[in-house]
Amino acid sequence: MKIALLGFGVVGRGVYDLTKDREDISVSKVLCLEDVRLPDAEVTRNFRDIVEDETIDTVVECMGGLHPAFDFVKEAVLAGKNVVTSNKALVANFYDELLPLVKEKGVRFRCTAAVGGGIGWLSELERSRRAQKILSVGGIMNGTCNYILDSMTRLGLGYDEALKQAQSLGYAEAKPATDVEGIDTWHKIILSANIAFGVSLEKESVPVSGIDKIAACDVEQFTAHGYVCKLLSRAEQGEDGIRAFVQPTLVKQGSLEAAVPLNFNLITFTGSASDRMSFYGQGAGRYPTAYNVVQDLVDILAGKGFYSPYGGKVSARNDGEYTYYVRGEAWDGVTEAVWGEGVITGKVSVEAMHTWRKAHPNAFIAALAE
Ligand code: HSE
Repeated sequence: MKIALLGFGVVGRGVYDLTKDREDISVSKVLCLEDVRLPDAEVTRNFRDIVEDETIDTVVECMGGLHPAFDFVKEAVLAGKNVVTSNKALVANFYDELLPLVKEKGVRFRCTAAVGGGIGWLSELERSRRAQKILSVGGIMNGTCNYILDSMTRLGLGYDEALKQAQSLGYAEAKPATDVEGIDTWHKIILSANIAFGVSLEKESVPVSGIDKIAACDVEQFTAHGYVCKLLSRAEQGEDGIRAFVQPTLVKQGSLEAAVPLNFNLITFTGSASDRMSFYGQGAGRYPTAYNVVQDLVDILAGKGFYSPYGGKVSARNDGEYTYYVRGEAWDGVTEAVWGEGVITGKVSVEAMHTWRKAHPNAFIAALAE
């Protein structure tokens, strides 16, 4: 298999290193704007050198961002090339354009590293859905947020200091808002739900709330009441539709989620036969991410394409109810208890709470896990 790498940063370099001694996969060209020299691959600044090269059968997109990454991926598919990407924003945002095109052109498209980095989460979902109905997916999908929340909980750091550390360790996306406002997790749960349930979720119907307004005083209250705050995603399939959302969640001390340290991910599905299955590991980083890109390349060699059939467009319903912790702006609904500067609400639907939070941008909200 002759591949071209689009981008030679953290992931691209990792894929190059992990494939250089393989006989079945060889990096033939690399699209890179920097002055890089490689002994066994041609480095070019011009995408045309790649898309017009008929000897290249598979393109690995590891540039990140939406444009020009998506334009290049689309051109590659149109040119009949297989594509592997680790770019969750690209796949989540262009799902409806990409998947039908991939089918029409008869090429193979995989993106395992896009959710969970080094965890083979999407390929496990692919296997699982062959043998049972997936009932729910979700969990801790963003290493940066977990690192911040863990540092605040275990080390007593303030939010800004914890974020700075996560950035200096290279966990955060180029714009930290993508991580801390929950957007990265939002892309990942939409992609996971699409594959698990064989649908295309209407993105705007999936509410998201991040951790950017959390403060040390919140964490003190959570610890005092026996909880740990995690940014959790969830999508569940019921008889009446799909519920999906991303929100800070207070899990009980001693639960599996509460124990996840540093920048690790813990992603779970429940299935009609298997019940709960959880996957723990590195959600980011050069070699964990490159490892799953290589796995995708090997799967493509073995004839595997996308993980699930492309399904119809559906809107998530958000009528599930939770009790929430709210601080930062005056809560105008039912209050059950006061925790320091925050309050514990009565039962509120996900939809109502996320709508309220949007109108109160300085509020921090966290659902209490059931
Ligand atoms: N910024 C992401 C994270 C990288 O922190 O999990 C992997 O998607």
